[in-house]
Amino acid sequence: MSTTKTRKKIALIGAGNIGGELAALCARKELGDVVLFDIPSREGVAKGKALDLEQNSAILGYDAKISGTSNWADCAGSDVIIITAGIPRKPGQSRDDLVATNLPIIRDVADNAKKHCPDAFVIVISNPLDAMVYEFQRRTGFDSKKVVGMAGVLDSARFNLFLARAANASIKDVRAMVLGGHGDDMVPIFSACTINGVAATQLIAKDTLDGIVKRTRGGGGEIVQLMGTSAYYAPASSAVAMAESYLLDQKRILPCAALLNGEYGYSDLYMGVPVVLGAGGVEKIIVLDLNDEEKAMLAKSAKSVQGVVDVVKKAS
Ligand code: APR
Repeated sequence: MSTTKTRKKIALIGAGNIGGELAALCARKELGDVVLFDIPSREGVAKGKALDLEQNSAILGYDAKISGTSNWADCAGSDVIIITAGIPRKPGQSRDDLVATNLPIIRDVADNAKKHCPDAFVIVISNPLDAMVYEFQRRTGFDSKKVVGMAGVLDSARFNLFLARAANASIKDVRAMVLGGHGDDMVPIFSACTINGVAATQLIAKDTLDGIVKRTRGGGGEIVQLMGTSAYYAPASSAVAMAESYLLDQKRILPCAALLNGEYGYSDLYMGVPVVLGAGGVEKIIVLDLNDEEKAMLAKSAKSVQGVVDVVKKAS
């Protein structure tokens, strides 16, 4: 007896630079049908990118329907929503500088997501990330297992690249994670950082490692300085890796902003920690045995995140 398997539906809220790249990746990987949503004044951009990507399927050969809209009703029934709604940084701005502009936007998105996509697994990308994902979950009241923020996969990708280059090693062999908030105090975990099992600290000199940490922390800003807006290829790939782990129940261990409930000694705070992502969403938060230096860095990072969350809470 054959059963009909329905295709998954992925709504991308924000059809800008990251939104467009997200749509391209979801379609090429055939993760499901894609709805690119944007505000009415940008509906043409959403529809145009969708049409371009559908035409691209005739060349690259993927089966995915891609549509553009400014009507939330078209996002109804989505299995996954990925949120990039908001403005990106300009040179000289910190992520926290975006809070005043992006807070009303994330609230608007939260209210509509609650109404139209109550069963979706949600990945927030909008900055300042940890505060925006906190506000999204608080306002919707969605199960925190199904609301995560994308930052750690991207920060870790930057860290991995710089480590691979310094060690003259293949990027495929580097295993390293960056935890904590998505800001200048993010925490690279050297105690769990290896090049195919060999401690990175054995292969790379201390002063080089210090430089790598600094460059990782400023990794987003370096790109903003170069091109006047923020990165989009690696951010999109990072979120798609998370969506894929959920949709295909891969149970990957990925650093994600997750709601902490006592883990690492923090509560009522979203921050980057290693999580198991599977069909249940955040199936587990893994608590690493951090050394004292790492614990102190995480405390500093948590304090920074809490500062922005407090601003968000006061603005209600
Ligand atoms: N609902 C949906 N989309 C919105 C809304 C809203 N209420 N408000 C703004 N947008 C849309 C904009 O019209 C724009 O098309 O969000 C899109 C953002 O796209 P870009 O300006 O190209 O920004 P992008 O580089 O994709 O980054 C988006 O992700 O990494 C973060 O810091 C970055 O906060 C920024 C976000």
